[in-house]
Amino acid sequence: MIVRPTPLLEVNALKKHYPLNKGLFGGDKGAVYALDGVSFTLDKGETLSIVGESGCGKSTLGKTILRLVDPTDGEVFLDGERIDNLPASKLRDMRRRVQVVFQDPFSSLNPRQKVRDIIAEPIVNFGLAKGSELTDRIAALMDKVRLPRDAMNRFPHEFSGGQRQRIGIARALAPGSDLIVCDEAVSALDVSVKAQIVNLLSDLQDELGLALLFISHDLAIVEHLTHRVAVMYLGKIVEIADRRTLFGSPHHPYTRALLSAVPVPNPDPLLRKRRVILKGDVPSPINPPSGCRFHTRCPFVMDRCRSEEPMLRPVEGNVRQMSACHLDGVPEHG
Ligand SMILES: Nc1ncnc2c1ncn2[C@@H]1O[C@H](COP(=O)(O)OP(=O)(O)O)[C@@H](O)[C@H]1O
Ligand SMILES: [Mg+2]
Repeated sequence: MIVRPTPLLEVNALKKHYPLNKGLFGGDKGAVYALDGVSFTLDKGETLSIVGESGCGKSTLGKTILRLVDPTDGEVFLDGERIDNLPASKLRDMRRRVQVVFQDPFSSLNPRQKVRDIIAEPIVNFGLAKGSELTDRIAALMDKVRLPRDAMNRFPHEFSGGQRQRIGIARALAPGSDLIVCDEAVSALDVSVKAQIVNLLSDLQDELGLALLFISHDLAIVEHLTHRVAVMYLGKIVEIADRRTLFGSPHHPYTRALLSAVPVPNPDPLLRKRRVILKGDVPSPINPPSGCRFHTRCPFVMDRCRSEEPMLRPVEGNVRQMSACHLDGVPEHG
């Protein structure tokens, strides 16, 4: 019998519904089904990327795991310990171990704090070091994210976007975290700077055994750093696979549509033939389509897709690739 080690993070049927304001006469106005039953695991030292168009629930997933918002239903385990239902007073250890880097370092770094104080804050808050030990620790973190040490005494506005993101990463590493949720952490950066930050994250991962939940709408960036990819559509995962499988033989028509939109210099003729062009916008998560949520935009839609919701299941028995689609084979033409 193969005994699998406990994953660092396990997310089980996680939901977040934002209730809409009750009407003037108290009528129930329903909810935004932002996250609607998402499950996956993430191992220590692994990167799982969460991709999908804007509004599909990626940030809600991150925020729910981080307990910046409370889940509506489902479970989250960190090292086998349930964390989704911990009372606020017991969240401290989870908050130390699970950190976040957001897209916009401008709004997430306090403009009135010097870099050293920004990085010191989590170390001091969690009572991990003080005095000269604190200073040494900050200096070591500056080295890790490749910022000059004299940057410690400057303010965030004195830095470029890429450098500010390095400060944000140093702060996220500071309390000795095991998992960093990167929510569009490189999306606002110029192409060359993006690549530098992606390289930094993968170096840090190798060095520290960090796990990354890398949220991005940009598939091209994800390909350079991820081990696995989960594709989300309207609050659900429609496909999850290891990187090579997902980029090389995507199964779900939505995944293929996202990949068709990624510019590639010399597309494989087979892949070119299998291009799927997306039409229209993502439907509203307030009234998601019946059956398969993608059926309103899917070029391969069949009758059963409108009524029967496809479950996430292994593609041709390959447990490393799961897809939620009623199609058995992959049609050649889009
Ligand atoms: N606090 C909130 N209240 C109501 N609806 C929200 C809230 N936050 C996000 N949403 C809605 O939930 C859906 C998913 O949003 P989000 O998780 O930010 O998507 P993504 O990060 O993939 O762009 C969107 O329709 C968004 O408008
Ligand atoms: Mg988002």
